Amino acid sequence: MDLTVNPRSLLQGEVQVPGDKSISHRAIILGALSEGKTYIHGFLEAKDCFATLQAMCQLGVVIDKLSPGSYCVQGVGLHGFTPSHSPINCGNSGTSMRLLAGVLAGLPFESHLIGDNSLQNRPMERIVRPLQKMGATLYGQERNEKICAPLHIIGNSHLQGIEYTLPVASAQVKSCLLLAGLFSNNKTILIENGASRDHTERMMHAFGAYIDIERNKITLFPSSLKARELNIPGDISSAAFFIAGAAMIPDSHVILRSVGVNPRRIGIIHILRMMGAQIDILNQREICGEPVGDIEVKGGKLSGITIPTEWVVSAIDEFPVIFVAALAASGKTLIHGLDELRLKETDRIQVMAKGLKALGADIEEDEDGVLIQGSLLKGGVVESEGDHRVAMAFAMASLIANDSIIIRDCDNIATSFPNFCTLAQHLGLTIYQHAEG
Ligand code: S3P
Repeated sequence: MDLTVNPRSLLQGEVQVPGDKSISHRAIILGALSEGKTYIHGFLEAKDCFATLQAMCQLGVVIDKLSPGSYCVQGVGLHGFTPSHSPINCGNSGTSMRLLAGVLAGLPFESHLIGDNSLQNRPMERIVRPLQKMGATLYGQERNEKICAPLHIIGNSHLQGIEYTLPVASAQVKSCLLLAGLFSNNKTILIENGASRDHTERMMHAFGAYIDIERNKITLFPSSLKARELNIPGDISSAAFFIAGAAMIPDSHVILRSVGVNPRRIGIIHILRMMGAQIDILNQREICGEPVGDIEVKGGKLSGITIPTEWVVSAIDEFPVIFVAALAASGKTLIHGLDELRLKETDRIQVMAKGLKALGADIEEDEDGVLIQGSLLKGGVVESEGDHRVAMAFAMASLIANDSIIIRDCDNIATSFPNFCTLAQHLGLTIYQHAEG
């Protein structure tokens, strides 16, 4: 499916974005691992989270849909899973594959995790090595000198807790090891060099796990989990397209209701504010251990900046649209420390730079970053290469383009934000879907 987006001069209105993707995956997994029934509301009904939900069903967990976004997970505890008769397909979802690997490492049977082409090219040694240290047996495929999916996991119900310093700031790796740590016979200690999102730690605590956090050191003791009710806030990574789109265009005014504003996810707000954006978080409250608020954005003129590298981790999924905001700003924006961006669903530095250049942007790529000179864009055809966030970021580029943009290969928007086009239209974009070509 392709998208065409017509040029548009501002965004206005109020919307509620769908549930947080990271929290939705964790809700299903921790619900399945706990004893009793976990009720989840605001679950993200998108392909990535359905891959995790389907995986749990294949492992013998009963999950009932109660109403749109509301599910009941009948937890089986740590020891009630049964082997899947067929490989577990994680599709495009790195979070599904890395988190499920942590669970499967501790289950006393063999499992196979498979994924689409994009997922098969993403690095898995970052979970394979530490899980092996914990006593699990895992095999991947060697591809371009990396260990990649498919993964063959021979679980071990007597895993050893380890003390491990994470070589990259990755919530997926951290969560994988914490999940494996639940099955270990002693404590697991993880040391982070960078504050990656902490939804797993918060949710494990809410489910009654013995987890202790002291600055950058997390200690998890073998624990059993108790089912509970969860309300999932809106996903700031989905809201980000409209936050950036509104912030960069004078006279825009957008309110996004009930969005998760976890301090480890709001890098985009810090970055846009530093560029001069007017963004307020209203009605701040805490729901199920996660900070939530309404985000109000009033558009204005942005200025180029050097983005402090300490904000990179908390804005890691937002860089495609931050590149677009940098084009709307006056002057130069310099970003470094983006190595991890090359390892996402696509190499997001390369795919964004190529597409934006096709629209006339002045953008220079280097190994771990970009230099972007503010400029208006022309219309044209851009390739998202099947990357959902790249596709949605290109849609926002229509706000500074003088002609229509055609975005190729947009089906994967359904992995994280199925009603993106409807909400974008509600805020004023003229955006329509059509068959490829
Ligand atoms: C995620 C963590 C991040 C992020 C991804 C979701 C998660 O990946 O990019 O979209 O839910 O834990 P890394 O942990 O690999 O940085």
